[in-house]
Amino acid sequence: MKALQDLLQTNDFTARHLGPSEAEQAEMLAEFGLKSLDELTDTTLPAAIRFEGDLNAGDGVTEAQALADLKALAEQNKVFRSYIGTGYYGTHVPPVILRNMLENPGWYTAYTPYQAEISQGRLEMLLNFQQTVMDLTGMPISNASLLDEATAAAEAMTLAKRSGKSKGNVFYVADNVHPQTLNVVQTRAEYFGFDVQVGDADQVPEGAFGVLVQYPGTHGQLLDLAPIAEKVHAQGGALIVATDLLASALVKPAGELGADIVVGSAQRLGVPMGFGGPHAAFLACQKGFERSMPGRVIGVSKDARGNTALRMAMQTREQHIRREKATSNICTAQALLANMAAAYAVYHGADGLRTIAERVHRLTGILARALTNAGLTPNETFFDTLTVQGDAATIRARAEAKGINFRYGTGTQADLISISLDETVTPADLSDVIEALTGEKTDVLALDAQAMDGIPDHLKRQSEFLTHPVFSSHRSEHGMLRYLKQLENRDYSLVHGMIPLGSCTMKLNATTEMIPVTWPEFGNMHPFAPTTQTQGYAALLGELERWLADITGYEAVSLQPNSGASGEYAGLLAIRKYQEANGQGHRNVCLIPASAHGTNPASAAMMGMQVVVVKTDANGNIDWDDLKAQAEKHSEHLSALMITYPSTHGVYEENVKDVCDLIHQHGGQVYLDGANMNAQVGLSKPGLIGSDVSHLNLHKTFAIPHGGGGPGMGPIGVKAHLAPYLPNHPVIPTSDSQTGAVSAAQYGSASILPISYLYIKLLGAHGLRKSTQVALLNANYIAKKLSGAYPILYKGRNDRVAHECIIDIRPLKQDSGITEEDIAKRLMDYGFHAPTMSFPVPGTLMIEPTESEPKAELDRFIDAMLQIRREIQEVQDGTMAAGDSPLKHAPHTQTDLIAPEWNRAYSRETAAYPSRYQKNWKFWPAVNRVDNVYGDRNFMCACPPVEDYIGA
Ligand SMILES: Cc1ncc(COP(=O)(O)O)c(C=O)c1O
Repeated sequence: MKALQDLLQTNDFTARHLGPSEAEQAEMLAEFGLKSLDELTDTTLPAAIRFEGDLNAGDGVTEAQALADLKALAEQNKVFRSYIGTGYYGTHVPPVILRNMLENPGWYTAYTPYQAEISQGRLEMLLNFQQTVMDLTGMPISNASLLDEATAAAEAMTLAKRSGKSKGNVFYVADNVHPQTLNVVQTRAEYFGFDVQVGDADQVPEGAFGVLVQYPGTHGQLLDLAPIAEKVHAQGGALIVATDLLASALVKPAGELGADIVVGSAQRLGVPMGFGGPHAAFLACQKGFERSMPGRVIGVSKDARGNTALRMAMQTREQHIRREKATSNICTAQALLANMAAAYAVYHGADGLRTIAERVHRLTGILARALTNAGLTPNETFFDTLTVQGDAATIRARAEAKGINFRYGTGTQADLISISLDETVTPADLSDVIEALTGEKTDVLALDAQAMDGIPDHLKRQSEFLTHPVFSSHRSEHGMLRYLKQLENRDYSLVHGMIPLGSCTMKLNATTEMIPVTWPEFGNMHPFAPTTQTQGYAALLGELERWLADITGYEAVSLQPNSGASGEYAGLLAIRKYQEANGQGHRNVCLIPASAHGTNPASAAMMGMQVVVVKTDANGNIDWDDLKAQAEKHSEHLSALMITYPSTHGVYEENVKDVCDLIHQHGGQVYLDGANMNAQVGLSKPGLIGSDVSHLNLHKTFAIPHGGGGPGMGPIGVKAHLAPYLPNHPVIPTSDSQTGAVSAAQYGSASILPISYLYIKLLGAHGLRKSTQVALLNANYIAKKLSGAYPILYKGRNDRVAHECIIDIRPLKQDSGITEEDIAKRLMDYGFHAPTMSFPVPGTLMIEPTESEPKAELDRFIDAMLQIRREIQEVQDGTMAAGDSPLKHAPHTQTDLIAPEWNRAYSRETAAYPSRYQKNWKFWPAVNRVDNVYGDRNFMCACPPVEDYIGA
């Protein structure tokens, strides 16, 4: 009989998280003549980097236990009705969107839509997002999307500098801008060398290259932007407006008042506040700015049949291509949240949005009347926010007794109280608000007829918006449900099969890890709620920080950066601040290996650093001689080296410790990009290797789903000497650090941090380590099985790869004309998402299976790749002309198969059912191969006419 201890299944989750069973692991290990995972580790990892102890992450718990424990933590949060505003507002997530999008792995486990043919669903919704932003802001072009409103404003500042006509160096920020936006802009401006000046919006100084104004202002007032625009334009500058999409349904949009760039957050379009995020920010611009605008832009193009097809446009301006000359370092952004906001706009349509906006404005007008009646003096112009001077202490006590938060001024503004209403406010809520503010009970409905109008006539919106049929076609819940499902079905996600994208770590996003994200205790928390109300979050974040510090071998962690690239920026910022504090402010050279991810040089450039490229040797390792030469040459000005470990070539470099020592000898700091932490957790630690700072992509190693291109979180770990320079926050300080904010909210996208918390808690120390070991096993298994057909480009000791491998397509391409892209598209016919294409080496495919893929799935992928290899062989042998090969026509669609004529050199079956697996289950690409060039030559980022789709 088994003992009770053996029946408790406390480690059950580890077995669920891992793809191969114990027996399969043994079978796979036997391929290498190995008997255990430890043996695999011992023969793969360099001894010098090994961590031999146990992580302090507990023993792992059951899923039921983990949820129960987390619920107890969540309940320590007190969710008040928060009317704090400042960029974050209560909203109702339409349940049809909540369940079918936010809580749906079909939407949240997809990757960034690089493979357009199997991403048409979210590309369409992202195009809807752009259309929503364009319509509401009155601008001709929008992106989709950015990390948050504050960083969007900072991006707009650099866009204005890059594309504007002014030669000036002053960036002027109106004093009506949200405090966190101002702070992020100031942080960002410092290393670009811009002179940020703050003042009255009407007092724009001469020579400013850009002016940032909030509309409506942070305290509620509505400024007429037109005269400001005139003045800014007269001196060749650009007017940047941070605006509110809901207000834009009623007020004249910024684009009609002369704005050149409009930024903001789409949070209040049905995305929970989530203690600061994740939410999608947007950046819209006038024509002429588009080719240097930051972030992803979805464009309309054509497929091989000439049908309308969508894709990500103008990618050549992104950091993957332009590196330190890129327009920004934005990579992972907030695609899932942009999709949610767009779905909200589709569901409500123009009249729905207008009604919501009118209700919010009417409630605010009634509040204005009640406050005036009580002898207070709120602002005369407003959309949803009123500010009064009053006895803040008394009001605050009354409000908090009712479970209500207002925004309270600080310092010389300590007697200011601001109230921002939102779509969740009912007449009963308003009655409580009025009582908290005035001490009097009021009949809200009786005051309705005397409601004040806060929008002056000349600022009332006259123009139509959301006129495209998509915004009026799916208004019933059935209609919406089906639209969401149709789009979901066009997209390949982890619910369909493996997404073996190297460097992206598309592992399991376990259901248990995802469940708390939509708990109200996490979702409905305002980021600037008093800390006494956020104790549950504090406990969770504190524990997560301790775990991450232990896992990385660092002394301190900042949870503020919203993406890996944002983490890079924050890490380099800490380095520069540290060096300045130690009289080393002149150090500004950043060494970066040629193989680095494009965000590395782009982030270094944003920190005002001079990027010096270090060569890689024939084995893909950092070229030691070149590194030594560069470090010596730049010794006096050396600020940092950025490396990725294991390298982006998928190998554990043996001499990485020497590399770190060398940089330290020259007075530099080592930034270790943690995107590949999936090959380190429990086996090694960046801090142990000798680096000073790293970001972690929680959306890779720590199970946050990719959301079709975000959200993500890029916390950084640092050694003790850098800890005093981690980012802080102007509204809710998190430390004594003098370093400014890098994100709008103090903990970035806090509401997705429970995912990583649960990931660590569920697996515990043993499960975390084992996950890394199985990631190595899966990758090496694939490498071994494919190596006879495709050369494995780089290997480490004992011919092993780390957690991913690169297969070299260049020799085949030379011989047959078949490209890595042809293989990527043909894999779709076999029911797979392609590996990473041409990164870090052009002409290659980088495969990362992760530990979560079952052996059966690995074998299915291997079979597909081997069969594709045979198809290439036919071309090499001359039995099939390259142009006639299914590889060149891939992917194949249902339309191909039903075409009356079939004049291809292969059968319909070979086209769409190339292996036996498709007989059982088939994923259909929605369109044929998308024409990238056409889309960029004929740039269009708005929703195309419906007939274009019907004609398809
Ligand atoms: C090696 C490496 N560094 C940095 C990044 C940037 O991370 P993020 O996309 O979260 O900004 C990535 C993302 O793919 C990466 O692979």
